[in-house]
Amino acid sequence: MFEGKPEPQCLEVELGPRSYPVYIRAGCLKHLGKLIIQAGLGPKGLLVTNTTVADYYATLTQSSLEQAGLQVRSVAIPDGEAYKNLEWASRLYDAALEAQLDRRSPVIALGGGVIGDLAGFVAATYLRGVPLVQVPTTLLAQVDSSVGGKVAVNHIQGKNLIGSFYQPSLVVIDPHILKTLPARELIAGLAEVIKYGVIWDAEFFAFLEEKVEKALVLSMEVIEPIIARCCAIKAEIVKLDEREEGIRTLLNFGHTVGHAVETLTHYQVYRHGEAVALGMLAAGWIALELGRWSLSEFQRLRELLQRTGLPLHVPGADPRKLQELMVHDKKNLQGALRWVLPRSLGQAEINRQVPEELVRRALEKLVS
Ligand SMILES: NC(=O)c1ccc[n+]([C@@H]2O[C@H](COP(=O)([O-])OP(=O)(O)OC[C@H]3O[C@@H](n4cnc5c(N)ncnc54)[C@H](O)[C@@H]3O)[C@@H](O)[C@H]2O)c1
Repeated sequence: MFEGKPEPQCLEVELGPRSYPVYIRAGCLKHLGKLIIQAGLGPKGLLVTNTTVADYYATLTQSSLEQAGLQVRSVAIPDGEAYKNLEWASRLYDAALEAQLDRRSPVIALGGGVIGDLAGFVAATYLRGVPLVQVPTTLLAQVDSSVGGKVAVNHIQGKNLIGSFYQPSLVVIDPHILKTLPARELIAGLAEVIKYGVIWDAEFFAFLEEKVEKALVLSMEVIEPIIARCCAIKAEIVKLDEREEGIRTLLNFGHTVGHAVETLTHYQVYRHGEAVALGMLAAGWIALELGRWSLSEFQRLRELLQRTGLPLHVPGADPRKLQELMVHDKKNLQGALRWVLPRSLGQAEINRQVPEELVRRALEKLVS
């Protein structure tokens, strides 16, 4: 039974020569410099953050790095998804060259998924790859994007179209940092947390049902084990399938419809996690209609999403347009969408043969 404390505070993502530790401890940001030195990185580095995160955490981070003897150049880019692009990657290359970073000098990503993806892309490509240290500051980044090695920038034609698999050398997670995160961002991150329960761990799902209110007020004795469990699950899945050729696809539960919702609303209305919550409901409903999932478990998912404060409907959206957008999703394989459908709590399956009519009805339910 998952009771909230079984994970050690340092996990290992086991990928042979690309293995790396993930430290999770409230207050550990002040030890960042020491952890980087212990990992054998430095003495130079590039700290990438955004202006919002810098206001809160740049001073503490820089003093930790300096105290450990690291000489770090900092760049704070403007806040927003719009800056996760090649232009800003290029400015970061300029900064790296000016600071004369060499192949042992880490790029340190201090921020949410936007900074992690952009800084990760720069680390993957500068000098054909320098070490990457992920210091995620949103719940979404702490439980998902900082672990697993997907790095990318956006292209005018779509999100994350230019990218790579590039594992970090070190991930340092300080849950205390979440105290300054806007409530809506926290809630959006919890959608990804709930996702892990549905696809992988029924006991963890039950734990979330019991403790979600405590997670919402960031009680550290609940949020820390939640982050640790999510990272452990992600590490397990990534170990099995680093490059998303099979089981890693399960992590896309809720994303097929979620991406379509985000695209339809031009990324202006829903946070990524909110769209994923809507997508999990649509996929859940499809699994139910196919007779592959039970009504009682579907209702438990719906209720947990509701208690978390996540949206359950996309009012006013055109189901036909949503369906068209899904067909263009880059995760299409040879024309067939890969649906991730729950089988029972803690277990999901990939289904390439969901009838279009069923998809349409699921979307109609979502928009009503
Ligand atoms: N690489 C992956 O595996 C992966 C997985 C999921 C999502 N992503 C990417 O992640 C991005 C979304 O990430 P996100 O949801 O973290 O958004 P984000 O990085 O835009 O951060 C959300 C907001 O929170 C602010 N913020 C961050 N940390 C804060 C803190 N501690 N206190 C106060 N404010 C803080 C940011 O400045 C921003 O305004 C997208 O670009 C998505 O494509 C990547």
